This record gives sequence, C-alpha cells and structure tokens, in this order.
Amino acid sequence: MARFLLLNGPNLGQLGTREPGIYGTATLPQIEQRLRAQATAAGHELDAFQSDSEPDLLKRIHQARDQQIAVILFNPAAFTHTSVALRDALLAVQIPFIELHLSNVAAREPFRHKSFFADVALGTIAGFGPTSYELALTAAIRHVSQGGE
Ligand code: DQA
Repeated sequence: MARFLLLNGPNLGQLGTREPGIYGTATLPQIEQRLRAQATAAGHELDAFQSDSEPDLLKRIHQARDQQIAVILFNPAAFTHTSVALRDALLAVQIPFIELHLSNVAAREPFRHKSFFADVALGTIAGFGPTSYELALTAAIRHVSQGGE
C-alpha cells in the first residue's frame, strides 16, 4: 500500500465553470473522487489538497515529509510558471512528484511554456483534461510498484 498526495494550485477550485473550453466541465471534487477510487481499486490511498495560496501549498508539501507520501501528483496551475519557492519545497522534502496539467501548456501562450518544475519532476503529463490526472496516478502507481525506478 502506498500513499499519494494530489496537490492542486490556484483557480483549480473553479473547475467546472472556469474557461470550460480549455479546462472542461468536470469539477475538482469530481476529479478527486475519481482519483481516490482509482487509488483504492489498486490497493493504495490518496490524499487531496487544493489551495489558491502559495504559503498553504508550501506548508502541505512540508507536512508530506512526515506522512509517508510516496509520490506527489501536482498541478501547480499558474505557479508552474512563477514559483521558485514551490520548486525548492519539493526538492527540500525529496518526495518524487509528477507535474500535470489539464491543458497542453506547450501549445498555449509563450509564458506558459516555462515550468519551474519540469526538470526536477519524474515526468510531466499535460493536455488530456481530467484524464491527465488518471494518467499521472497510473504512472505514480507504476513508479512505486517498480520500487521507485
Ligand atoms: C494549468 C495550466 C496553467 O498554465 C494555468 O495557469 C492553470 C491550469 C492546466 O492544468 O492546464 O491554472 O495548470
């Protein structure tokens, strides 16, 4: 049994009504519920946390160190393109993480092409809408079942 942490950054609590042409119509509680079910079906556990606040996300990452979190699934949202602090927190706790996005950030505005996380993540999944979350969890489960390779 492994424990995963799903972390979502700013404005992702607005999913469902937020720019549905880009982000789809699923709400964050629906995505979280689906992911919990996927984790449970595979014999694992998933915690979920969303915040619009960088300090709160930093605190949640720091706490993860004492909670035996095997892999963090992280959609940093707009902080993807700005936050050295969140990058440093992930490096500080040394928990492997997967960067994920609903939209294909590489195909959007140039300011979304820069990620402060991509080069220190296990990998990045982007562009598949809510399926990006399922793919990220599948990759995380595979990662732990292969002994962290
Ligand atoms: C996002 C992409 C980011 O550029 C944007 O700021 C978001 C959502 C995505 O999931 O596609 O808030 O992370």
